[in-house]
Amino acid sequence: MNFHSDYYSLLPHADQAELRRRQAHTIKRLTSLKKGIRRLRELAESISHLSARHLDFSGDVVTIGAAHEISSAEQAQLSTALRGFMPWRKGPFSIFGVDIDAEWRSNRKWDRLLPVLPDLTGKVIADVGSNNGYYMFRMAHHKPRLVVGFEPYIHHHFAFRALNAMAGCRHLEPELLGVEDLGLFPDTFDIIFLMGILYHRISPLECLKEVKKALRPGGSLIVESQAIAGDEPVALFPEDRYAKVPGTYFVPTGACLRNWMVRAGFQDVEIVCSHAMSSEEQRRTAWMDFESYADFIDPVNRQRTIEGYPAPLRVFLKGMA
Ligand SMILES: C[S@@+](CC[C@H](N)C(=O)[O-])C[C@H]1O[C@@H](n2cnc3c(N)ncnc32)[C@H](O)[C@@H]1O
Repeated sequence: MNFHSDYYSLLPHADQAELRRRQAHTIKRLTSLKKGIRRLRELAESISHLSARHLDFSGDVVTIGAAHEISSAEQAQLSTALRGFMPWRKGPFSIFGVDIDAEWRSNRKWDRLLPVLPDLTGKVIADVGSNNGYYMFRMAHHKPRLVVGFEPYIHHHFAFRALNAMAGCRHLEPELLGVEDLGLFPDTFDIIFLMGILYHRISPLECLKEVKKALRPGGSLIVESQAIAGDEPVALFPEDRYAKVPGTYFVPTGACLRNWMVRAGFQDVEIVCSHAMSSEEQRRTAWMDFESYADFIDPVNRQRTIEGYPAPLRVFLKGMA
């Protein structure tokens, strides 16, 4: 569901009739969550009158508004509203002087991408699994034409809408859709970011094929995924959870993910980065007070998850449609 879908004119190949049908379905689904939505909407509306003059998406901290732009009473109200969107998974943000220390130091992932980032200027981009929009704002710094954030979870959707009501970036658009809806956007995107998604898909290869169809010929895909160490092209398939996370299916080695991309039809596929996970990068904070990485790993053997599987790496790959 997009609440102002006039940007569809920028996506001439999108299946607009089917999009509207799915939006109607989403609205129906959301009606059953009425109370939760009302709370999220009210939270977002309670701070939507704050319009930021100072924006800075160039650094680690996504900055929307400076402290001196609002009164201390407004800042207190803002802080309370932003706490209402907890848990904050991706960040950091600074919103009119309220510093949000999210579970993930997402700036580190962005820093790893920067050396291999395609030119985003003037491009039509999809960020799949866009969460609260941290990376959409970082992309905005590079002057894209449009960034569509695919994020089916209402909590993240409203967190992004609250942030962007204050930031006023009209070329950043949230869609309450998932990766499975990309088929509605054939030959549409110049660049797709697929980060933190593939290991949650029952069929990662089918998913990659769908992603490829949504790219314009010659378009770029950036994939980031949880992975296991090793040079063999194999994937771990956990019995139930992996690092306590339900809904985790195939956790590949970098080589395996590379093969998936090649067999899904991508060209010039490269593994551009691989690193071990750490509780420096993903941790419990004052803005995310649930379990985090340290709780997912065997306290004695840090090379194993709590279930006894190899501990996760993260890998980054690039390919062209
Ligand atoms: C592991 S997080 C990754 C977030 C971000 N892309 C990153 O790399 O840090 C997965 C995100 O995908 C969202 N998500 C869940 N199901 C999805 C689906 N079917 N399609 C797209 N995104 C989905 C989640 O709500 C969450 O925001």
